[in-house]
Amino acid sequence: MEGTMKQTSKLGRRLLLFPAPFHGHLNPMLQLATLLYSKGFSITIIQTPYNPINLTDFPHFTFCSFHNSLLESYSKSPPPDTVTVISSMDTCCEAFRDCLSQILRETAAADTDTDGCKEHIAALIADPMWKFVGSLTASINLPRLVLRTGSISALLVYLSLPSLREKGYLPARDNNLDEILPELSPLKVRDLPLEWPHHLLETFVRETETSHGVICNTFEELESYATAQVKRSLPIPIFPIGPLHKQSPTSDTSIWAQDQTSITWLNKQTPKSVLYVSFGSVATMSKAEFLELAWGLLESMVPILWVVRHGLIQGSEVNNSLPEGYLDMLGERGHFVKWAPQLEVLSHPAVGGFWTHNGWNSTLESICEGVPMLCQPIFADQDMNARHVSDGWKIGMKLEKGIKREEIARSIRKLMLEEGEEMRSRITALKEKATLCVKEGGSSYTSIERLTSYLLSF
Ligand code: UDX
Repeated sequence: MEGTMKQTSKLGRRLLLFPAPFHGHLNPMLQLATLLYSKGFSITIIQTPYNPINLTDFPHFTFCSFHNSLLESYSKSPPPDTVTVISSMDTCCEAFRDCLSQILRETAAADTDTDGCKEHIAALIADPMWKFVGSLTASINLPRLVLRTGSISALLVYLSLPSLREKGYLPARDNNLDEILPELSPLKVRDLPLEWPHHLLETFVRETETSHGVICNTFEELESYATAQVKRSLPIPIFPIGPLHKQSPTSDTSIWAQDQTSITWLNKQTPKSVLYVSFGSVATMSKAEFLELAWGLLESMVPILWVVRHGLIQGSEVNNSLPEGYLDMLGERGHFVKWAPQLEVLSHPAVGGFWTHNGWNSTLESICEGVPMLCQPIFADQDMNARHVSDGWKIGMKLEKGIKREEIARSIRKLMLEEGEEMRSRITALKEKATLCVKEGGSSYTSIERLTSYLLSF
């Protein structure tokens, strides 16, 4: 276990943050950390060896980094599937407990500051994917909040699973997959996380329900129905404080190096002409699927900026997956990178559409920049997010007929050249709401003030 030098806060309160070690969860947790630091809290981040944060990027935080041989081995070899990594997180219990004890000991032993006050640990903010954190913090009376990094609509679905089973929607059957769920419209049965292991969702719900409060990376105007329902179901404070990347003084919290040639290439393109293609940090696809995508993109004739990260193509890399002569055929019309500065890309005037897997961060970031989406959900909450985008907010369209090159090329042209304008005007209206909610008096601005006072009450 390693610690870094402790920085102390103006408020005499330290917050401990324990993110799940995935890019889409680390990013919002780091944005939250930066935001709460700017409010005067001092911050300690507890982290695993999987997707480690570069400590020098965040010199104002204290880190407690622990070892875990299983997660360490996943970092070195090609990563296993996400469910395997999530299940392995349970083996971190002892190391986390040791880390927590060390932080508590050090804080108790620390000197008083110049005002004669002693800093104390106000609370732990953890990702609800950690199975053991709730019982551990309860046993030492440490207040614990959770950070919901996905949508609040998905949280409502997880909370509703028992009633969906009682009402006979689940288990899903071949003949009910296209039924719209009346209390969760526009979601259909097929959008529910049917493949996701049940015990992981149970952990998530239990850790959320037993917490002292839920911080959500969303804004009320976007998910008003789900926010109201969740507030009704959970007898704990709910803080929709997103979009976190707009609230946080530092929105660039990517833990992977971002290829700036994305921007130099975009600078040469005409306004709204480029389709940005990225499927996030964990989703994978077969080589055959990747090939269909590649042909579809080529046949669409639209300029593309495509993120093909290491691990996206199962067992292969971009160089040996593209057909012979492909790059020559694409020519100047396409640009490949391993990881892009996504926030900068989405706000670039040349970008006219986003082909996305609809991870929640990507969905929210696209909304904040007013970029309509082509939705290709791959797993977990992505089907639900995509349904809200296409059938709820109507700011994107789903690839309904699967990954076929003709369908891909046709859908891209529809999004970029034919129906894009209507979607663009709807998403621009949402973008304005996202901009307003973080301004003084806005819903998320007010929510962060409530959260700050709440944290100061511990
Ligand atoms: C995962 C799950 O897949 C998703 O369903 C869940 O909602 C969050 O966790 P991930 O695949 O990482 O998320 O996607 P997403 O939530 O969209 O987050 C990706 C993040 O990486 C975004 O903040 C995006 O800006 C960033 N990113 C992505 C980059 O910085 N560069 C890139 O090239 C691609």
